[in-house]
Amino acid sequence: MAFPTVTPPSGAPRPRLAFLGTGYLGATYAICFAELGYEVLGFDVDEAKIAKLSGGEVPFHEPGLDELLRGNLASGRLRFTTSYEQVADFADVHFICVGTPQRADGMGADLTYVETSVSNLARHLRRRALIVGKSTVPVGTAEWVEQLVAKHTDPALEVEVAWSPEFLQEGFAVEDVLRPNRIVVGVKTDWANSMLYASHKGVFDLAATEDREVPLVVTDFATAELVKVAANAFLATKISFINAMAEVCEVAGGDVTQLSKAIGYDPRIGNRFLQAGVGFGGGCLPKDIRAFQARAQELGAGEALRFLHEVDLVNQRRRTRVTQLATELLGRLPGPAGPDLAGTRIAVLGAAFKPNSDDVRDSPSLSIANTLAKAGADVHVYDPQGMANARLARPKLNYEESMTDAVTGADLVCVLTEWAEFRNADPVTLGELVNARRVIDGRNCLDATLWARAGWEYRGMGRPNPSV
Ligand code: UDX
Repeated sequence: MAFPTVTPPSGAPRPRLAFLGTGYLGATYAICFAELGYEVLGFDVDEAKIAKLSGGEVPFHEPGLDELLRGNLASGRLRFTTSYEQVADFADVHFICVGTPQRADGMGADLTYVETSVSNLARHLRRRALIVGKSTVPVGTAEWVEQLVAKHTDPALEVEVAWSPEFLQEGFAVEDVLRPNRIVVGVKTDWANSMLYASHKGVFDLAATEDREVPLVVTDFATAELVKVAANAFLATKISFINAMAEVCEVAGGDVTQLSKAIGYDPRIGNRFLQAGVGFGGGCLPKDIRAFQARAQELGAGEALRFLHEVDLVNQRRRTRVTQLATELLGRLPGPAGPDLAGTRIAVLGAAFKPNSDDVRDSPSLSIANTLAKAGADVHVYDPQGMANARLARPKLNYEESMTDAVTGADLVCVLTEWAEFRNADPVTLGELVNARRVIDGRNCLDATLWARAGWEYRGMGRPNPSV
């Protein structure tokens, strides 16, 4: 596809880029696009966050990002600010990367941050610019953002709106931004299309030097918005599908890890995102499938997404399963008010919603740790990166500085996030520290036979007990 060259309104040779909202998404994009050679300004209302970033410190754990941040600050291509005025004055293309959390009063998405950032930015614009939504939003948001922009800018400036969803996975975010598997843009005009192409040329050029191609899908607003939620709904469904199979394996005596391997060899199914365990968490999948259902209901297509309710239920049931297994292993009875685990000490290994991340939003591990503590157990949590966030989210749990501290004296060890440190732990060494050798492998990430041989009573998710 040929793209007419476009002169950015600032007069700079390449569009100058702003990223509004410097959370996991915006900070990673800002840093990576500076790395691709763009002049970049990152914006956030949180002064502490901006001070950290300006000082060369990434406020969250993401492999490889610190180094890129420091390099690009030093090059002068990357700066951070808390001033809308500076952002408006600097950039040609403004990417909106603010959070869209679940609403406190329902399943829908809370668009307050989108509204505030767009309105404040628009009020300060003094020349033509493109505002591009990246946040995950209900379909129809881009049209609404256009109306906000029209309300707050002089029509003579011809400020335009576009939508370009992102697909980065925490833990692989740098790679996902520099080498995405596709770029999707929802645009209404050739100008917006050309500006977005120019803003991503660094990504296409990098691909060309590595003999790769990055597919580009140019579409309308609604489709661009839907692509993101549809992709996340599909991933969530895939995980809940295999977890539903785990439930069946549990009653039928099958092994879901082998079942998953066997069906995954069929390329139509594929073996990725087919790991049974305690289910999905994080800042995206759980809230996105709920917001998608809420929006479809509003639009009159609620029935089409009813299955996502089941996807959510399967996911929640896997968390309950760990409490059930703990109750059984500890020889307690599940009473009418739930199990009584008083007098037991449980080590929970993992607090982050997945390994290589410090993110504990809607983390299955932390939610299970909380349920066990509520049932009366003395719960001791350890996570290689997620401790600070876990302490903030669940201040009442006990936190330990190391895996050995957490498991010492435990009556039960629950591995709930598959960090390499836990996967590679030696069951013989750990066995000498605990009070009783009982382990729940919430991610099916341990070698069941090895643990059983070391004298552990092992329980996985959807797999039979190992024979020694
Ligand atoms: C997800 C999407 O993958 C990404 O494309 C989108 O942009 C944002 O949402 P992320 O939230 O970083 O990314 O996490 P992801 O790697 O998708 O994992 C989500 C959850 O599913 C984690 O809790 C993970 O442990 C769980 N999971 C994943 C499984 O339980 N089984 C699997 O097979 C895969």
